[in-house]
Amino acid sequence: MAERRIGIIMNGVTGRMGTNQHLVRSIAAIRADGGVRLANGDRLMPDPVLVGRNRDKLEALARAHNVTRISTDLDACLADSKDELFFDAATTQLRAGLIRQAIAAGKHIYVEKPTADRLEDALDVARRAKAAGIKHGVVQDKLFLPGLRKLKMVIDSGFLGRICSVKGEFGYWVFEGDLQPAQRPSWNYKAAEGGGIILDMLCHWRYVLDNLFGEVEAVSCLGATHIPERIGEDGRPYQADVDDAAYATFQLKGGVVAHINSSWVTRVRRDDLATFQVDGTHGSAIAGLQKCWTQSRVNTPKPVWNPDIPQPIDFFAGWQEVPNSQDYPNGFRVQWEMFLCYLVGETPIFPWDLMAGAKGVQLAEAGLRSWRERRWIDLEKLEA
Ligand SMILES: NC(=O)c1ccc[n+]([C@@H]2O[C@H](COP(=O)([O-])OP(=O)(O)OC[C@H]3O[C@@H](n4cnc5c(N)ncnc54)[C@H](O)[C@@H]3O)[C@@H](O)[C@H]2O)c1
Repeated sequence: MAERRIGIIMNGVTGRMGTNQHLVRSIAAIRADGGVRLANGDRLMPDPVLVGRNRDKLEALARAHNVTRISTDLDACLADSKDELFFDAATTQLRAGLIRQAIAAGKHIYVEKPTADRLEDALDVARRAKAAGIKHGVVQDKLFLPGLRKLKMVIDSGFLGRICSVKGEFGYWVFEGDLQPAQRPSWNYKAAEGGGIILDMLCHWRYVLDNLFGEVEAVSCLGATHIPERIGEDGRPYQADVDDAAYATFQLKGGVVAHINSSWVTRVRRDDLATFQVDGTHGSAIAGLQKCWTQSRVNTPKPVWNPDIPQPIDFFAGWQEVPNSQDYPNGFRVQWEMFLCYLVGETPIFPWDLMAGAKGVQLAEAGLRSWRERRWIDLEKLEA
């Protein structure tokens, strides 16, 4: 049984996503489990170099997670032929430039979304990657949530009949920073730093809608800045000058209508922080992050509108939970393992590439334009 090393330049690992999802739950966890097992029994062993600006933070992270290599010199890392893959989870605004640099250095690419803060740049990096013949992938983690995987199985089974509509509710209250510290970074609320819930979330909704319900053809989106002033990490107030909520409707290929509310200014009274309800002619399903419930045509209660009596039907009781039928490891890790297998030729296809990333940026940009111009925006087909 041989071990195949994969050198990975991991940029932005001191951030929230970089540390929690990509280093701790994915790369360090894969290493601790002895690597990714291939069909012939060999193992792929990721060998990361943690890259960032703050040596102390990098050293602490490396120590805590059994990593030996750190660097504050990205250029030197890109020049080192021992490391074949460049990964980025740092700021959105610098991402496209870093991808260009890494492609020019001959590296393969795996990055967080959004792949850029403008469609023009997202398309440019996708085209450069294609021309360079490198392998590339973009994090599309929501597809690997157990709830959405179960929902996909429900859809594939034909249980729903013809899908009519999808209703998504995403969000929770993000504290303003005065009564208690905010649980998201302040850059999320600043235009100059690549913030805004439309740019953040519509990238996700593009691949969720495209992969589960039908390709997005048009969007109508209303954004809002409900909380215009917040308190930053430094304890000082700042102006929140981007959208902290987005109310968006999508037309999908095949006639499905989807509406998704995304908000950091809402209090949760539903099954989970994100829920997707799908109504079809033969049944409905609703998925949260982990769970999914279904209701068939024959199990659908028959309510009659009568506001003069307390509601006699327990609507929650009429749904059946889709059981856990397999292990559901962390979604970021699952996607990492798929990408690493693709990288070494173990699997031939990895569908979530930089062009898929560009589609996400396209939808975010169209959402922002729809809000600005107060109209529906049709999405053009993107060509590599
Ligand atoms: N897939 C998802 O569900 C998901 C969720 C949240 C964020 N994200 C994406 O991940 C990325 C990081 O988000 P986060 O929430 O972890 O943010 P964060 O603020 O916690 O982390 C950002 C990281 O970038 C580094 N950084 C900032 N400015 C830099 C600079 N000038 N040069 C080099 N490094 C710099 C920071 O030191 C930090 O390590 C963003 O692109 C965001 O859109 C994805």
